[in-house]
Amino acid sequence: MRLPSVKLALDPRRSTDLVIMGVFERTAPSTHGLPKRIVNAAVRACESPGFKALDGQVRRVETSGADREVVEVHGLGPKGTFNERKLRKWIARVAVAAGQEGCKKAGLVTPDHPAAKGRRSLSVLTEVLLSGYRFDRFRKSPSARRLQKIQVVPPLGEDSIYGEALPVAKKLATSVAWARDLGNTPPNVATPVWMAEQASELAGDLGMKVEVLGSEELLAKGMGGIVAVGSGSSNSPRLVRLEWGEEGETVALVGKGVTFDTGGISIKPSQGMEEMKYDKCGACAVLGMARAAADLKLPLRFRAYLPLVENMPDGKSYRPADIIRSYNGKTVEVIDTDAEGRMILADAMAWAAEEKPDTLLEFSTLTGAAVVALGSHGAALYSPHEDLVRELLAAGDSSGDRLWQMPLWEEFREEMKGVHGDLKNLGSRWGGANNAAAFLANFVGRVQRWAHVDIAGTAYEASREEGISGATGFGVPLITDWLLSRTERF
Ligand code: BES
Ligand code: ZN
Ligand code: ZN
Repeated sequence: MRLPSVKLALDPRRSTDLVIMGVFERTAPSTHGLPKRIVNAAVRACESPGFKALDGQVRRVETSGADREVVEVHGLGPKGTFNERKLRKWIARVAVAAGQEGCKKAGLVTPDHPAAKGRRSLSVLTEVLLSGYRFDRFRKSPSARRLQKIQVVPPLGEDSIYGEALPVAKKLATSVAWARDLGNTPPNVATPVWMAEQASELAGDLGMKVEVLGSEELLAKGMGGIVAVGSGSSNSPRLVRLEWGEEGETVALVGKGVTFDTGGISIKPSQGMEEMKYDKCGACAVLGMARAAADLKLPLRFRAYLPLVENMPDGKSYRPADIIRSYNGKTVEVIDTDAEGRMILADAMAWAAEEKPDTLLEFSTLTGAAVVALGSHGAALYSPHEDLVRELLAAGDSSGDRLWQMPLWEEFREEMKGVHGDLKNLGSRWGGANNAAAFLANFVGRVQRWAHVDIAGTAYEASREEGISGATGFGVPLITDWLLSRTERF
């Protein structure tokens, strides 16, 4: 995985194949930091017949002179309704398209908008870096159709914050790209053991403590959920615990790592089942967050817990009607073996909570119902702590990893009570993301603050388009943003 090199400001001489610029309706193109010939070309493009800077409108013109460059002006619609998320999407779209057209070097003029200013510079630069991301480890020859050098022109007055943001963005983008690589790796390679090896390598590189529990240790420790879900696969389960940092608040991160989810005995329909390689994206995101936090040397103590299993149908599989004892002693009646995420998270969250972190955050591709509710436009956030909700929603807005708060009502907890066990793993059909969250609430002990984020709709893009489809690394920018603002590092 190699990301493009990014420099701030355009070289004064001709040095790019293409200059990309965003303009808003009824506003002149920004001229800050641009050579005259580019400004003139941009003005000509904006004056071309029919161009109103409507969202999606594009005009291309060439600069005059011996070395002609192409200037591409993109309409961004009205300034008032533009936001961080639209900006991130626009950057990804135009930079990927430029690369696919064979362009190697491009300039990107950042639009003059609050979404691109101050701390927002971090997500702008991260997105620029990630526009060169491709998953081509499994191709004979890697795709050359991507931008290799990008010159970013910050908005007026923002040069110094962009300068500060760039080294942070490089570390963040590298962590996101790594989380994507892990998520995209196919299930015949990315087994629980392989995932644990990746975590151990990371720990070695960044000086983290790592503990990996195998089947026997899991059994001995009473991690009944992980053992049960893992029992149907010849790829045995693992539980990884990472530890880093000696000062500051303790943040525990838990991520669902189902390396492939067939549904088990309650098997899924075959159509679209290949998408279930992404069922480990919670764990991949947590690894990405751990990497970013350690690489940025943030003053905090973090602990990461990754339950890793493959959910398969087999003579040894766990089955509907089984009663499983979780790490905290509560028993769960299995109704549906496809509700396996909550079974393994129960153990991992109970362990995380037992170690009394200040904040416990859990990420999982937990329910199709979360996708029904929010599509791929945001992840479902559950937390009983209003201050934590406010902090995470704000980090979601500024990072572009958007969240939407969902309810943790009593009624959903009632639904999850068992008949012959303390709990059951399936509630009614309606509000399926909410009753899953209510189930998890039984495993957080007396932890001070906790949140569950259902990333089923945002963890991957299922389109077939190269350069766009695949794991997104959702959550890594979100939590890095949250941690940076908590530790006042950027
Ligand atoms: N991994 C799935 C959830 C999922 C669905 C993730 C779509 C990404 C896209 C999860 O383990 C699952 O199978 N959930 C069931 C829950 C049900 C059995 C209670 C679901 O959502 O249908
Ligand atoms: Zn499932
Ligand atoms: Zn699953």
